[in-house]
Amino acid sequence: MSDTPAGFAGRVVRWQRTHGRNSLPWQNTRDPYRVWLSEIMLQQTQVTTVLDYYSRFLARFPNVRTLAAAQPDEVMALWSGLGYYSRARNMHRCAQDVVSLHGGEFPRTADVLQTLPGIGRSTAAAIASFCFGERVAILDGNVKRVLTRVLGYGADLAQAGNERELWAHAEALLPRRSLEESMPRYTQGLMDLGATVCLARNPSCLVCPASELCVARRTGNPEDYPVKTRKLKRTSQALWLLRARNGEGSTWLEKRPNSGIWAGLYCLPVFESREALQAALPVKAQSRLRDGEPFLHVLTHKDLHLHPVAVELPSSALRTDGAWFAGCDLHQLGLPAPIRRLLKD
Ligand code: ADE
Repeated sequence: MSDTPAGFAGRVVRWQRTHGRNSLPWQNTRDPYRVWLSEIMLQQTQVTTVLDYYSRFLARFPNVRTLAAAQPDEVMALWSGLGYYSRARNMHRCAQDVVSLHGGEFPRTADVLQTLPGIGRSTAAAIASFCFGERVAILDGNVKRVLTRVLGYGADLAQAGNERELWAHAEALLPRRSLEESMPRYTQGLMDLGATVCLARNPSCLVCPASELCVARRTGNPEDYPVKTRKLKRTSQALWLLRARNGEGSTWLEKRPNSGIWAGLYCLPVFESREALQAALPVKAQSRLRDGEPFLHVLTHKDLHLHPVAVELPSSALRTDGAWFAGCDLHQLGLPAPIRRLLKD
């Protein structure tokens, strides 16, 4: 690997001014609440998906105090469909900690921001550099790709020691001057480069402001970076969903446990086999099951093969921990996206 390329930060900053994204709704503000909200939503989720959720969330919870005071169910409902629901639960806890431990003001340094629920090292750095011009490095998946390529860093990032070393390189590359202005631009510039130019496949090196410094481009193939040996093992699972309706057309929903799949959301009762689903019903209903069309729902680590099974039941028939919900109430609940789609039919 080469020495840290001089001039990298300046190139990123200048490029961001003219070619980066500058009118997203969470930009052009230094309000840490708004920046924090956007950064949490943007973890693992595309900008285009986040836009609607962000504006709805802000309209309902315009500041950290309104969010801290909200009912968890309402927070989950507004998050419903964004996935990775632990983000929403941590976000609510974080808002409560900001109010109870920090007087309703977000801490102004990455070190202290990192002590809050759901705020990791890179997210803390994003907030502190965007809002307070702190000279701290971000290193999310996209930025790892940009930096390993520019530096020609080919060590395996599955090993913690190498990841630590890359953090140190990320810090050495940071701007040194006019931090109030340059840090927000630099941080956004790295994100924008990773999202629009330095793509995992077919990177647009011809329009990259760092191409002349980029070791990967000069000495090899940018697509070979970053190196990470540990492969995600995908699994698949079949689940049966009980779609029970009563005489009034209401649907029986249960709240999922606080860990595991769809944690904390309202959901149709979930079973690991059709037999288990059947056994949960009164004997009279067991012969009246109607099997729906199975469908696939893809999670990050798992393919879910979902088998809906419908049945009409008297209101008193189910003894599990749940309740009947009328159709018009369903859209106010935090429902997993595939369940929401299923119930629309
Ligand atoms: N992804 C993570 N943070 C982002 C931001 N501030 N703008 C665009 N995409 C992002």
